[in-house]
Amino acid sequence: HVPMMDLNDGRRAPQLGFGVWQIDDALAADAVASALKAGYRSIDTAAIYGNESGVGEGIVRSGVAREDIYLTTKLWNADQGYDKTLKAFDASLKRLGTDYADLYLIHWPVPSKDLYVETWKAFIRLREEGRLRSVGVSNFQPTHLERIIGETGVVPVVNQIELHPDFGQREVAAFNADHHIVTESWSPLGQGGDMLKNPVLAGLAKQHGKSVAQVVLRWHIQRGYMVIPKSQNPERIAENFQVFDFELSAEQMRSIDGLDAGNRIGPHPDHLD
Ligand code: A2P
Repeated sequence: HVPMMDLNDGRRAPQLGFGVWQIDDALAADAVASALKAGYRSIDTAAIYGNESGVGEGIVRSGVAREDIYLTTKLWNADQGYDKTLKAFDASLKRLGTDYADLYLIHWPVPSKDLYVETWKAFIRLREEGRLRSVGVSNFQPTHLERIIGETGVVPVVNQIELHPDFGQREVAAFNADHHIVTESWSPLGQGGDMLKNPVLAGLAKQHGKSVAQVVLRWHIQRGYMVIPKSQNPERIAENFQVFDFELSAEQMRSIDGLDAGNRIGPHPDHLD
């Protein structure tokens, strides 16, 4: 059973969801159907992933009712701007085969284009029209957040950022918390790289009789983050959902906190166009 998180607009969202970055459109339907079968009720995609159609198909195939699923997609950088955003949102809904999104995120701030405030205003309009339940952002630094909040008064419900034990993002997460913005972790498993071989994590996994991935996901959850692990493999999809039957102690949490080495994998949000 997945805990629900309270959002600053009065709505709620599942704390654990299924991420589909780098899952091919042709394979996305199977992956999403596996995730829904394993119990996930939140799916995170994006226009740029090129798999919104597959995600929509997976939802239909699963037999799970649309209203029982929390569906997130993201506006791609090239579509920023007021009118372009309205069009891009329509196109995403069409590909997803639905008439509303639970959450829409500005994928990156792209400060060099300076369009994210206009884009945010279009998000607010879409929410007013009811085709979008909640508005959020991704990869926003505190300066970008301050600007959209200052110019519109509307605070994003989430800020989805790269975050894993060796890239702790404490400053952005603290800013989010101060503004009642939920921090959502992307690449929570460090993209399945060397971090999963860390001996501290391996030791904790052994103590709990869990996998390293499960320990890492549990750490995100106990830190109060929303988290969206990706997997293409049905066993690992199910494994990543089994994280509510054990608990890390305060000391174990601190030992994972101590692994933060500033290891960013993706681009810096200020430098991506
Ligand atoms: P796969 O799709 O073959 O399962 P992130 O969510 O941090 O981006 O990590 C995704 C990567 O981690 C993918 O390469 C995925 O590979 C791998 N992965 C996902 N779940 C697990 C797991 N439980 N154990 C090991 N690797 C995993």
